[in-house]
Amino acid sequence: MMDNKDLEAEIHPLKNEDRKSQENLGNCTDKEEPCKTLPPRSPLSRCRTVAFFLSLFICLFVVFVVSFIIPCPDRPVSQRMWRIDYNTTAAYDFLALEDINRDRIQDVLFLYKNANSSNSPNRSCADEGFSSPCAFVAAASGASGTLFWERPAAQDVTLMQCSSAQQRAHGVLSACILVGGPGSVIALDPFTGETLWSRPGSLEKNASILSLLLGVPDVDSDGLPDLLVLTRENKEVNSYVYSGSTGSQVGHRGSLSTDGEAGSILHVTRTGAYYLLFPCASSLCGWSMKSLFEEMTGRESLLRTDPLWERAINSTTSRVSSPSSGAIRYQMHVPGKAGEDLLLVGSEACVLLDGQDLAPRWTLSDAQVFRKPILGHYKPDTLAVLIENGTGINRQILLLDLSTGAILWHQHLPGLPGVPPSASLLTADHRSAFFFWGLPEGVDANQTETGGPAHSLYMLHPTLPSVLLELATISANIIAFEAVLFEPSRHAAFILLTGPESPAAPGLVSVIKHKVRDCIPDSRVVRLSQDRADSDQAIRDRFSRLRYRSDA
Ligand SMILES: *[C@@H]1O[C@H](CO)[C@@H](O)[C@H](O)[C@H]1NC(C)=O
Ligand SMILES: *[C@@H]1O[C@H](CO)[C@@H](O)[C@H](O)[C@H]1NC(C)=O
Ligand SMILES: *[C@@H]1O[C@H](CO)[C@@H](O)[C@H](O)[C@H]1NC(C)=O
Ligand SMILES: *[C@@H]1O[C@H](CO)[C@@H](O)[C@H](O)[C@H]1NC(C)=O
Ligand SMILES: *[C@@H]1O[C@H](CO)[C@@H](O)[C@H](O)[C@H]1NC(C)=O
Ligand SMILES: *[C@@H]1O[C@H](CO)[C@@H](O)[C@H](O)[C@H]1NC(C)=O
Ligand SMILES: *[C@@H]1O[C@H](CO)[C@@H](O)[C@H](O)[C@H]1NC(C)=O
Repeated sequence: MMDNKDLEAEIHPLKNEDRKSQENLGNCTDKEEPCKTLPPRSPLSRCRTVAFFLSLFICLFVVFVVSFIIPCPDRPVSQRMWRIDYNTTAAYDFLALEDINRDRIQDVLFLYKNANSSNSPNRSCADEGFSSPCAFVAAASGASGTLFWERPAAQDVTLMQCSSAQQRAHGVLSACILVGGPGSVIALDPFTGETLWSRPGSLEKNASILSLLLGVPDVDSDGLPDLLVLTRENKEVNSYVYSGSTGSQVGHRGSLSTDGEAGSILHVTRTGAYYLLFPCASSLCGWSMKSLFEEMTGRESLLRTDPLWERAINSTTSRVSSPSSGAIRYQMHVPGKAGEDLLLVGSEACVLLDGQDLAPRWTLSDAQVFRKPILGHYKPDTLAVLIENGTGINRQILLLDLSTGAILWHQHLPGLPGVPPSASLLTADHRSAFFFWGLPEGVDANQTETGGPAHSLYMLHPTLPSVLLELATISANIIAFEAVLFEPSRHAAFILLTGPESPAAPGLVSVIKHKVRDCIPDSRVVRLSQDRADSDQAIRDRFSRLRYRSDA
């Protein structure tokens, strides 16, 4: 049997120890033995202390060095606003974005027409063999608005297009292609402004330029995508192909043996067949790239055709048998459930067609759309399409669900003819902020006829559907407008290119960048319903707090 003390020791072992040490102390006084002192610190423990303080010191030193002595890598500071002016110039409807100095901030490419460049007067049209005035291409820093380069590039420009990052990933030459002057095609390096190649006089001089398609399938077998130019000569659409690498013309001029208009696109079916789609005589026309290339080069092409599409395209008229949307004003690719679908904006209806079997997914028939639709997200991660129904006093902005065609949001918003196009930017909540132009609040169309044109920029975010923010009112003539995320995940801004209405009367041309957030404190809150739960300031604060994100 255990006695009580042992039992207690098992339950409270420490308590027992205490008692023992007390007993020891008692013993110590009783007997004259020297007291047991604490054992002296071993050299090992001293070592540990030294090591601890040494490592702490080294840590602090490293922190100090990193934070104060080694300078941080320079992060370029973006200016909130900048502006570039040119006197006595004409402008072209062209703006492109490209990170030219590789600082991860988008930079701006634009065109103007002048006798000599304002900033470096020793560069004149004559230096490049053009008569004065000629078209200059300029590249400005998105961060500060300083010019990287500007140079005379062509006598005149009808169309200009730069290859996109996605196209480059598929091997398309990193270049900006200019078509214009008397029948010339020119490729420029967007990073330096140098001419990569130039083909003066390769197009018919009288031809009107319809479309420029970068990245058509390789025709000259050099392994790189090529370049297709469509022109209209004597009421017939013709095609020209240039090598993507050298710019030399491939084959001879091809004829599509039908009349047509600008706005063609290259469609790839889900079976991998390429078709050129272009608006023609109140309808949509199509040509298989295989037969076009075979006609132009006289050789057999390895491209495929799709039996379904071959049946859908009438071989004599080239018309695509599809539901009637009337004369095609715009056609664009939109992401579908499996591959790309086609959105057609016609004079009679807007139709979304399946990209493979051309079956209509939805039709919106009672809308008059004169402007290219834009895509954005009204509900999180769900694509919506913004269209403008009508013009002038009766103009209406509609947001449709892309997959069903259902109207998600609509608002009557008068706009003068020639209002700049709309835009959208993705926000961090997987929706989009939408930007569109209209008449300034409280101004009716009657007043503006006397006071000159004025356009207001409105902003909508789907989390506040009953409010529009009037960000800015611009009285200058706007030639191009773009909403831009200059840096990934931050810094939403817009770029305006303003200039004289007619190129025949040169005037002041300006390229202006404004940060969206800087416009919000002075913006006007436009309420679309009677709901007054939030104050104007609370609404501005919510718009100010919006975070943006990049496309990818
Ligand atoms: C442009 O014109 C304005 C007024 O006409 C003038 O003040 C300005 O100095 C001119 N700028 C240049 C670069 O010539
Ligand atoms: C443009 O060039 C012409 C002729 O070289 C010259 O007379 C004129 O002063 C130049 N203009 C500017 C603004 O440098
Ligand atoms: C303009 O002239 C200056 C001096 O003559 C020269 O240093 C500069 O490189 C020239 N700029 C251009 C763009 O030709
Ligand atoms: C070009 O157009 C002019 C007038 O518009 C005409 O006289 C001429 O014959 C045309 N040239 C060609 C090659 O079609
Ligand atoms: C092609 O169109 C023409 C003219 O509209 C028509 O006569 C012909 O029957 C059509 N061909 C086919 C195969 O549908
Ligand atoms: C487009 O506008 C017209 C005229 O204002 C109107 O009759 C029609 O209903 C509108 N369409 C839609 C889809 O709202
Ligand atoms: C605009 O002008 C027309 C004709 O001058 C007039 O009938 C109409 O009432 C005016 N509208 C407004 C809103 O003032």
